[in-house]
Amino acid sequence: MKDYKRTLVTAALPYANGPVHIGHLAGVYVPADIYVRYLRLRGREVLFVCGSDEHGVPITIKAREQGCSPQDIVDRYHGIIDGSFKALGINFDIYGRTSSKVHEQNASAFFRKLYDEGKFISKESEQYYDPEAKTFLADRYIVGTCPKCGNENAYGDQCEKCGCTLSPEELINPKSKLSGAEPVKKKTTHWYLPLQDYEQWLREWILEGHKEWRPNVYGQVKSWLDGGLQPRAVTRDLDWGVPVPVEGAEGKVLYVWFDAPIGYISNTMELLPDSWEQWWKSEDTKLVHFIGKDNIVFHCIVFPSMLKAYGDGFILPDNVPSNEFLNLEGEKISTSRGWAVWAHEYVRDFPGKEDALRYTLTANAPETKDNDFSWKDFQSRNNSELVAIFGNFVNRAFVLTHKYFGGKVPARGEMTEADREALAAIPQLRLSLEKNIEGYHFREALKDAMSMARVGNKYISDTEPWKLAKTDMERTASILNVCLQICADLAIAFEPFTPFACEALRGMLGLDLSWEDLGRDGIVPEGHQLGEARLLFTKVEDADIQKQLDRLAAIKAEREAAAKAEEAKRVSPQKAEVSFEDFSAMDIRTATVLEAERVPKTDKLLKLTIDTGIDKRVIVSGIAEYYSPEDMLGKQICILANLAPRKIRGIESKGMILMARQGDGKMRFITPAEALNNGAEIG
Ligand code: 2FM
Ligand code: ZN
Repeated sequence: MKDYKRTLVTAALPYANGPVHIGHLAGVYVPADIYVRYLRLRGREVLFVCGSDEHGVPITIKAREQGCSPQDIVDRYHGIIDGSFKALGINFDIYGRTSSKVHEQNASAFFRKLYDEGKFISKESEQYYDPEAKTFLADRYIVGTCPKCGNENAYGDQCEKCGCTLSPEELINPKSKLSGAEPVKKKTTHWYLPLQDYEQWLREWILEGHKEWRPNVYGQVKSWLDGGLQPRAVTRDLDWGVPVPVEGAEGKVLYVWFDAPIGYISNTMELLPDSWEQWWKSEDTKLVHFIGKDNIVFHCIVFPSMLKAYGDGFILPDNVPSNEFLNLEGEKISTSRGWAVWAHEYVRDFPGKEDALRYTLTANAPETKDNDFSWKDFQSRNNSELVAIFGNFVNRAFVLTHKYFGGKVPARGEMTEADREALAAIPQLRLSLEKNIEGYHFREALKDAMSMARVGNKYISDTEPWKLAKTDMERTASILNVCLQICADLAIAFEPFTPFACEALRGMLGLDLSWEDLGRDGIVPEGHQLGEARLLFTKVEDADIQKQLDRLAAIKAEREAAAKAEEAKRVSPQKAEVSFEDFSAMDIRTATVLEAERVPKTDKLLKLTIDTGIDKRVIVSGIAEYYSPEDMLGKQICILANLAPRKIRGIESKGMILMARQGDGKMRFITPAEALNNGAEIG
């Protein structure tokens, strides 16, 4: 493994078209922050760069929907996202924005250099155009009927109902979202990066050189490369983004996925205008991109090819850790359906419990497969692990030291086997923790830290210093001394995961600790005065969890009601033609219900005795789900009188009651607009 001097960590720039949710946090930001905190604690030189991704079509769509400008949208969400990262202790060195001047200039110059050096190809193609709004239409601006499931609101790139990927050409009845007009094809010129030229190089660099990358990342890259790379358009016809800095390119902007990764560089420039190159162009820098799984191709194929084309010494990532997806209560997170836990709402609803979320998201991190967040699990991880193990151990150690020794670290006497064992477990776990964090296995690393807390908690429970204090103060002193050493270890080991609790614990210990202290016996010196004991974690109450579950249940109920309403609207297609003779052969007429009763031992059947004007007869009808016998009594209905009689549950049924049935199955009987004589013919 290469020995680097410094580490540049980037976290995917979140789109500023909505707040971030737990899926984003678990997938990218919490693991990236854990990694960076660990490096900082080890005294390594590290830079942590992120920012809002403020271009792209969804932002323009949102602005249009809300009747404001795209700038208003990104200003709003940039603020919300930045605030929730800060609240959760995700400490970037810079959280920039791609709508900044520095970025516009940088991205523009980046494009221009590649353009001047002939690294792009330009191609004319036919794109959808809105003849009324007089503008080209991005795929998301075209809606129509999904050819696969019939959803009338499918987008030009995807149907959100059945989840299939589409192209605008596949939509039935395509319409512009802007004007409602039918889009037409119009010629336009765009610039493309010929990715196929970099294929061989990418193979060598990643497939040969980075077999250690996570299997999901390596596998996706391999399948892209095996599928053969194509030129990729890097410009778009749109009025929001970095203008294409070329004559004759009016009305065109850089494609958002071209400008966004350059944003990492721009944000570094903004923070370090004089020394940014040291981070981006030195072989001594280790570059690590933390991303979501839908970003893999852009960070492993497109952006590296852009940097390769640019040359000038830009470094490539040493690793690109990417997680799978996090589900919520067993269902895929969906921002459009509101099925998410939003970071800014979490910090509002659970003040002081920022660590609990970081902890749960790491313990359940979808590192190798999709994973689930559930509120009950969150509560149990907080209450049974953070509170009951880590917090309880530290609290007992501090409270007892204050009680028996006035808060002064007592001297250690002769060591027992139990003391030695407890202390010896820490350096062992430290080795595993380091290996896991450096290998990007954050779940496992957290388990190592938690094992340290378990060691402490078991030690204090087994040795019971509160009992010994009655008879053997010397031994009590030794035990508490060992406990306090472990408390200090926890303040270090947990810092990447639960930074707020660790800050409080360091304050209580009154010590400046570094990673190198972890597992070193005697970190807490004898006679050292401790601060007051404070609770590091507090319980999550059932009522708080219930509130969250109620909110999700309401979303589910709303969604189900909407789906039902949709279904009800569904109309079946017209049946095959029939002749007038066929129709006239049916004897349809009015009748009145004289008696009605349920058919015993069935849920659906009513036995109706009716007056048809011709006779009195019995019809058995499957309407008990919709009508009780009392509902039907005395009602005038329409019947098909000459339907061949059938025996239903042993009752002879002569004819059929005419019912109208909606798409969702709801049925109602048909009645004349005004009462008529029984036996009046219909037709
Ligand atoms: O998927 C996303 O949220 C993108 N906005 C990530 C961009 S990462 C980088 F390239 F800027
Ligand atoms: Zn569909």
